[in-house]
Amino acid sequence: MNSIFRKKTIEALLAQSTQKDLKRTLSVLDLIFLGVGCVIGTGIFVITGVVAATSAGPALILSFVIAGIACALAAFCYAEFSSSVPVSGSVYTYTYATLGEFFAFLIGWDLMLEYVLAMAAVSTGWSSYFQSFLTGFGLHFPTALGSAPLSGQGGIVNLPAVIIILLITALVSYGVKESVRFNNVMVILKIVVILAFIVTGIGYVKPENWSPFMPFGISGVITSAATVFFAYLGFDAIATASEEVKRPQRDMPIGIIGSLIVCTVLYIAVSAVLTGIVPYTKLNVDAPVSFALSFVGQDKIAGFISVGAVIGMVTVILALIYAQVRLSFVMSRDGLLPKSLSRLNKKRQTPFLNTWITGFIGAGIAGFLDLTTLAHLVNMGTLAAFTLVSIAIIILRKKFPDVKSTFRVPFVPVVPLLSALFCIYLSLSLPGITWISFIIWIAVGAVVYFLYGKQHSNLNVKS
Ligand code: ALA
Repeated sequence: MNSIFRKKTIEALLAQSTQKDLKRTLSVLDLIFLGVGCVIGTGIFVITGVVAATSAGPALILSFVIAGIACALAAFCYAEFSSSVPVSGSVYTYTYATLGEFFAFLIGWDLMLEYVLAMAAVSTGWSSYFQSFLTGFGLHFPTALGSAPLSGQGGIVNLPAVIIILLITALVSYGVKESVRFNNVMVILKIVVILAFIVTGIGYVKPENWSPFMPFGISGVITSAATVFFAYLGFDAIATASEEVKRPQRDMPIGIIGSLIVCTVLYIAVSAVLTGIVPYTKLNVDAPVSFALSFVGQDKIAGFISVGAVIGMVTVILALIYAQVRLSFVMSRDGLLPKSLSRLNKKRQTPFLNTWITGFIGAGIAGFLDLTTLAHLVNMGTLAAFTLVSIAIIILRKKFPDVKSTFRVPFVPVVPLLSALFCIYLSLSLPGITWISFIIWIAVGAVVYFLYGKQHSNLNVKS
């Protein structure tokens, strides 16, 4: 029984990372871009409007602040871990060294679900923007092929969502360097689009739209925080790229915290302007950010925003595939998942097979599930991961006081404990069905661990 709590030593993890399986090509700027590329997407471009109209009102801005605080607390923990254990796999790896193999497997299993579902969720949001963009040119995508059967909009399959995932999978399988370059250009465009919205919209803000400020009360604000939390997801994906960073000790903390700061500032500004120019009751639309500018007669800039959103969300899907592949790569390298998932393509030096399996599963889900269900499940998985990484920091400090790290969480154990409690509190606002689905997924993971992972783990040789 003890073997399920066996741990990897920090020394072994670091030694493994110097085996240079993956090329070290990323700089700190690439990391911030990867973070921002993964974070700003469907959350701000699509989910914001629904949440403002149905559960937050103008207090949406408060929901973003609350979700942002939860992320910032967890980001500190991520940053310390990523600078002391700069190995691919993120929370999975950190948990392996602190709580042991069984918990590590479960959290890896949880994160795989999170990344694949998030990929599907974002591509669903992308599909909505893409279709509303076509509508701007008088082209109508067939309803049956434009939405998932579970979305209740009369669709059979969400074809644009499926296609975009497969296209990006092809790009990622082609090689990390090319993908990162592509990502950087797209991220700049996305930031320009958001700034254009803020700068144009600010002149149309009517303070009376912010009143009543909290039409759904404080409970509405908290429920909304648990939903818009989705908009922040992604900065943790940076931590999964640490084996490809040139100077991980210094660059990982800067990358994680830097990208979170950029996103928080932009989100708060966007939600203030959005609810300031359009009465919140009118925001339950597919493309709320561009809708808001059309609402005040700025159609050209609204069109520019639609294009930017369509392109911008591509980088989110890209970063999520990237994160998922690296995570399953490391789990496979450790023997906990089949070895074929960590086989590198000889010519490209990328995990080709793994990337395509990820792409096909993500595309399959995106074709058939609706955005809200997906977003809730993703948030649940993420909050669980954040809780675990916070607890793991406390254990890391206790058990491995000598580990060197360039970034240290202040006031341990208070900050990590607050972080864990905050995440648990937010997850309690998610619907019952989300909890049930999550528990089933974790139970399946436990079965897979006992039937496969435990027997095939690399640590068997030593134990
Ligand atoms: N944070 C990402 C988004 O908003 C997942 O699309």
